[in-house]
Amino acid sequence: MSFNSIARHYDKLSRLVFGESLMRAQLYFLNRIDPSSNVLVMGGGTGWWLKEFLLKRPECNVCYVEKSVEMLKLAKAVCGDDQRISYRLGTEDSIIERNEFDAVITFCFLDVFSEVELGGVIEKIKLSAKADADWLVTDFINTRIWHSILLFVMYRFFRVTTSLKIQQLPNWEDLLLRSNLIEIEQKLFYGGFIKSAIFKRK
Ligand SMILES: C[S@@+](CC[C@H](N)C(=O)[O-])C[C@H]1O[C@@H](n2cnc3c(N)ncnc32)[C@H](O)[C@@H]1O
Repeated sequence: MSFNSIARHYDKLSRLVFGESLMRAQLYFLNRIDPSSNVLVMGGGTGWWLKEFLLKRPECNVCYVEKSVEMLKLAKAVCGDDQRISYRLGTEDSIIERNEFDAVITFCFLDVFSEVELGGVIEKIKLSAKADADWLVTDFINTRIWHSILLFVMYRFFRVTTSLKIQQLPNWEDLLLRSNLIEIEQKLFYGGFIKSAIFKRK
């Protein structure tokens, strides 16, 4: 599975389908991240929001872990050689830090794993974060029939373009809760199809 082939078109496609909604959802809780935080971004994609974020949070440091080399190139093109960003081509297995991050950001990242895989991914990310870290999630939820239809189409699209194997949305909310995290706050977008939330360890 690789997002390389669609990296250049990814943001345009997202805007075509969701208008500004997905972007607004991702920006919604960013201002909750404390200044001078050490932030882990998993599967950040093109990182379209990162430059602006660092302008508002000049004392933050960001570890940007991305599996797709093309996505990572685009993120570097947006943010350049910013010393505050540590770009890492890799996955959850490339996180060597322990109890280090004050905040974790996963935007449309949890949805690329099967439920079986996702439990392990969450545990690996959790190990790298401090006990009181905020975990900012933006992802899709499936609570209406039209959500199921749109998800069906989206997963078929990603199967063809990225060879993504899974074909249904994992119940990421349930898995985060089962992993001893609690939801502090949430906001829904796009008719309740997109959810942004802050989770913390119990
Ligand atoms: C659906 S895209 C979301 C991109 C971006 N976060 C956004 O919302 O615009 C998922 C991203 O996660 C990356 N990815 C997939 N599996 C990954 C993994 N195990 N570790 C790190 N990145 C991963 C993909 O390359 C892709 O850029």
